[in-house]
Amino acid sequence: MTTNLLKRRPLGTIAPDVAAISIGCAPLGSMPDTFDYEVTEQNAIATVLAALESPLNYLDTAAAYADGESERRVGLALRQIGGLPEGAFLHTKEGRNPDGDYSGETVKRRFHRSLEHLDVDRIDLVFLHDPESISWDEAWATGGPVEALQALRDEGLIGHLGVAGGPVEMEIRFVESGVFDAVITHNRYTLLNRAADPLLTLAAEKGLAVLNAAPYGSGILAKGPAQYPRYAYQTAESGAVDRAFRFQDICDRHGVPLAAAALQFSLRDPRISNTIVGMTRPERIQQTIDFANWDIPAACWDEILAEPFDHADLIR
Ligand SMILES: NC(=O)c1ccc[n+]([C@@H]2O[C@H](COP(=O)([O-])OP(=O)(O)OC[C@H]3O[C@@H](n4cnc5c(N)ncnc54)[C@H](OP(=O)(O)O)[C@@H]3O)[C@@H](O)[C@H]2O)c1
Repeated sequence: MTTNLLKRRPLGTIAPDVAAISIGCAPLGSMPDTFDYEVTEQNAIATVLAALESPLNYLDTAAAYADGESERRVGLALRQIGGLPEGAFLHTKEGRNPDGDYSGETVKRRFHRSLEHLDVDRIDLVFLHDPESISWDEAWATGGPVEALQALRDEGLIGHLGVAGGPVEMEIRFVESGVFDAVITHNRYTLLNRAADPLLTLAAEKGLAVLNAAPYGSGILAKGPAQYPRYAYQTAESGAVDRAFRFQDICDRHGVPLAAAALQFSLRDPRISNTIVGMTRPERIQQTIDFANWDIPAACWDEILAEPFDHADLIR
C-alpha cells in the first residue's frame, strides 16, 4: 500500500496540522535575474488562488522577493477572497533591503510593509532571511535584526521565529542558538545535493519545523536537464547535469516523471515538515499533486538511491 505523502503534518510546535507542500512564491514576484523568465501579475494571482483552493494551501513568501512584489501579489489574491481561508497557512521572511542594509530598524520597517502588502495584522511565522549576507555578530548585535524580530514577536505581531538561509554550518549555528522554532534550507536536500543532511537531523531532533525548499534544485529536476540545465539559480556544473541525466534515465525506464521522484524524495523524509515548491502557473498545482501521488516502484527507488550525489555545500 502506498503512503499518502500529502497527509497534513505538524509544523514543529508552530501549528498542529498544515499542508505537506507549500507554494514558493519567489518566482511569482517576477524575478527574471534569478529564474530566467518573467511572470505576470495575473498568472501570479491565479496560481495563489488555485493553491488556496487545493490541499496545497500553504504559501511561502518573503519581503525580498522582487522587493515586495511577491508579497504584494499574494496580498492581491488574499483580498479577492477575503483573507487567508480556514486551514491555510502563510509565512514570510525579513532581511536586508536592496542597498544591503540589514539593521534592526530596516527589518522592522520591512516587516510593517509585509503586513500592509499581505493585508494582515499579524503573521504566525516569520523567518530571518539569508543572514549569510551579514556576520554572526551583526545578526545578534544590539539594534540588529534578531533583536528586532524578537521585539516584534514580544509585541504579538509575530507568532514564531524561524531562520532561512543557505550555508549549512551557519544554519546549524542558528538552530543551536535556541531562538528559532523553524528552519528553511534550500537546494541542499535534493536528488543532486544532500549537504543539508546533518542540519535536518539536528533541527528535527530539537523539535524545530524543518522546511525543505527547492526540491527541484530551482527547476532542473522538474523541467529536466535538457530544457533547464540550471541548479540553484545559476548554470549547473557539468557533473550535476550528467547526474541529472542519469536520474532522468532511471525514471524514464520506470515510467516515472523525474519531478515525481525529486518531490517525493523530500516528502518521504520524516525529518521534513514541509517541502517548498516554486511554481508560476495555476495548472502546476494539480501537476504537483499528481507527482506527490505517483506510485513509484520500489525498484525505481533502489536505483535512484544507489546513485552518487553531492555532499559539499553550495557556494550560494
Ligand atoms: N533563502 C530562502 O529562504 C529560500 C531560498 C530558495 C528558495 N526559497 C523558497 O523556496 C521556493 C522553491 O524554490 P525554487 O522555486 O527556487 O525552486 P524549485 O521549487 O526547486 O523549482 C521551481 C521551478 O520548478 C518548476 N516547476 C515546478 N513545478 C513544475 C511542474 N509541475 N512542471 C514543470 N516545472 C515545474 C517551476 O517552473 P514554472 O515557473 O514553470 O512553474 C520553477 O522553475 C522558492 O520559490 C522560495 O519561495 C527560499
